[in-house]
Parts: sequence; structure tokens; C-alpha cells
Amino acid sequence: MTSPVLVIGATGTTGSRTTARLTAAGHRVRAATRRTTHVPGAEPVRFDWTDPATHAAALDGADRVYLVPPVGDPDPAAVMLPFLDRARAAGVRRAVLLSSSAIPSGGPAVGKVHEALPGLFPQWAVLRPSWFMQNFTGTHPHAVSIREEGVIRTATGTGRIGFVDAEDIAAVAAHALTDERAPNTDLLLTGPQALSHDDIAAITTDVTGHPVAHRHLTRTQLRDHLTAALPPEFATMLADMDHAIAHGAENRLTDTVHRITGRPPNTYRTALKREQRPTTRT
Ligand SMILES: NC(=O)c1ccc[n+]([C@@H]2O[C@H](COP(=O)([O-])OP(=O)(O)OC[C@H]3O[C@@H](n4cnc5c(N)ncnc54)[C@H](OP(=O)(O)O)[C@@H]3O)[C@@H](O)[C@H]2O)c1
Repeated sequence: MTSPVLVIGATGTTGSRTTARLTAAGHRVRAATRRTTHVPGAEPVRFDWTDPATHAAALDGADRVYLVPPVGDPDPAAVMLPFLDRARAAGVRRAVLLSSSAIPSGGPAVGKVHEALPGLFPQWAVLRPSWFMQNFTGTHPHAVSIREEGVIRTATGTGRIGFVDAEDIAAVAAHALTDERAPNTDLLLTGPQALSHDDIAAITTDVTGHPVAHRHLTRTQLRDHLTAALPPEFATMLADMDHAIAHGAENRLTDTVHRITGRPPNTYRTALKREQRPTTRT
């Protein structure tokens, strides 16, 4: 029997789509999450980053792994690096890490894992996607406020972002995991257009038929708004990221999706039409 690809975070935004692509292409996938949820076509395994007792069974026989870091953990390297040592010892040869366009190698949080990856595995890739289009369609706070109030609140001003479709991230992940040659580099992933949140509001209004407005907040207003639901340090970090976007930090486009998959990345309008059901206000 062929070795399974271990997909950590297999029920999440990118992991579920990566799993679907791998199984459709005939690969054996072991779907790892804290709850052993049924993932069509995959073998479920219970896995918790914070519980090393769950790690050996997840790794057993796997030779490649997709890594979604523990969500919301300010220091993911603390649990990920010991796991990656175990993975290497267990025979994993290729690791594909989900990071972010905002975090370079050696940067904060998952940047430390990025920095370590080339020294741990002979075959590797770090996916560095821009902001996800699915932030406006799934369970992200933007999607919720669109559905419930018809607003998006940011401190991004008129700053633009190369929003990327999670389907395109998954398509690149599947290539990075299974192509004969591993990328052995980091991959900055964007969609085809740099859009402001005013643009996002206008397209969402047009596609869904429900008015959506972009509320322009200051960095402090956004931090205070987020502090109602998030730890203060995390709220400050998110508000700072919006402030950086307002000053052009994410105003860039790359050809990486096209280069790796052989087709152009999807527009926000296309992704939204495909996923319109969750954005329709109830
Ligand atoms: N949203 C954006 O715009 C954006 C942009 C760039 C980068 N990113 C990065 O994308 C990452 C999130 O990836 P995603 O959207 O694919 O994931 P996601 O939709 O947030 O789902 C997280 C997945 O991980 C699992 N999980 C959560 N905690 C876990 C734990 N302690 N142990 C094992 N599994 C755990 C979840 O399943 P269970 O709950 O069942 O365990 C779920 O399958 C973050 O690191 C973020 O920085 C996001």
C-alpha cells in the first residue's frame, strides 16, 4: 500500500480543499484534526498539536505532510518544532507549511518554523498566501458581520490586498505535496487583482444582491472593537496588520498560482459566486 499524505487541519479552509484535491487525484490521505471528523475519501486520525500522545499514530507510515499551524497560538514553534523532529525520525521526507504573506522566514510566530523547515526535510515548501477570499464567505468575523449587519470593519483604509482563493492555495498545496520535484522554497500566493475593502464591499453587494458597506476604522478603533472578542495582544497585532495594509504592505500580485498550477488564479467575483450560499444573509 502507498504511503499516506498526512494533512493536518484537514477540516479547515485550506486543509479540506487540499484533502479533496489529493483524494480526487487518487492519493491516500490521512486527515488529522482534534475531532475525528469524517472527511470524504480520507482516513481520519485524531491529532492535537498540544497532545504529543496523538502524534505517533498520525505519522505512522506517512512520508509527506501538510502543516496548518495550531490556530491562534502566538508561539506555534514551541509545539511544531518537536513534532517536526518526530516526523523526520518517523520517515517524513516532504513538508509543506501554511504560513502567510505577512510573515517572512525567521519572522514572528510561524516564521520560526519556516526558518527551520529547510534544515529538517530534504523536500519542503512554505505557502505564503495573501488574505483569503473565504474571510468574506465562511465563519471569519468579516463573513459574520456581512451576513448579520451588512458591514465590513477594517483599519485598512483604501489599502489594497491581493486576496487569494483558498481553492488556489489548495491547488498549489497539492502540487507542492505530490509533484515529483518539491518546490524547496517559499511561495507567495495572491489572486489576480489587488482589491481594497471598498472594492470587496462593492463586489459582494453586486454578487449577493445585499448591500455591504466598508466601515473605515482607525487602528485604535479596530483594536478596541476586536478586544471585545480577542486577547488584547492578538487584537493589537490584527489592528497593526490592517494599519500596514493601509500603507501598502499587501499591495502586490504574484504569478505563483499560475506558474505552479498552469492556470490563472480565480477572481474574488468567481470565488464569491461559487460560495454564494454562505454569504446570503438569513
Ligand atoms: N485567513 C486569512 O486571510 C489568512 C491569510 C494568510 C494566512 N492565514 C493562515 O492560515 C492558517 C489557518 O489555516 P486554515 O484557514 O486552513 O485553517 P482553519 O480553517 O482555521 O482550520 C483549522 C484546522 O486546524 C484544526 N486544528 C485547530 N487547532 C488544532 C490543534 N490544536 N491540533 C490539531 N488540529 C487543530 C481544525 O480542526 P479541529 O478544530 O477539529 O481540530 C481545522 O481543521 C493560520 O495559520 C493563518 O495564519 C490565514
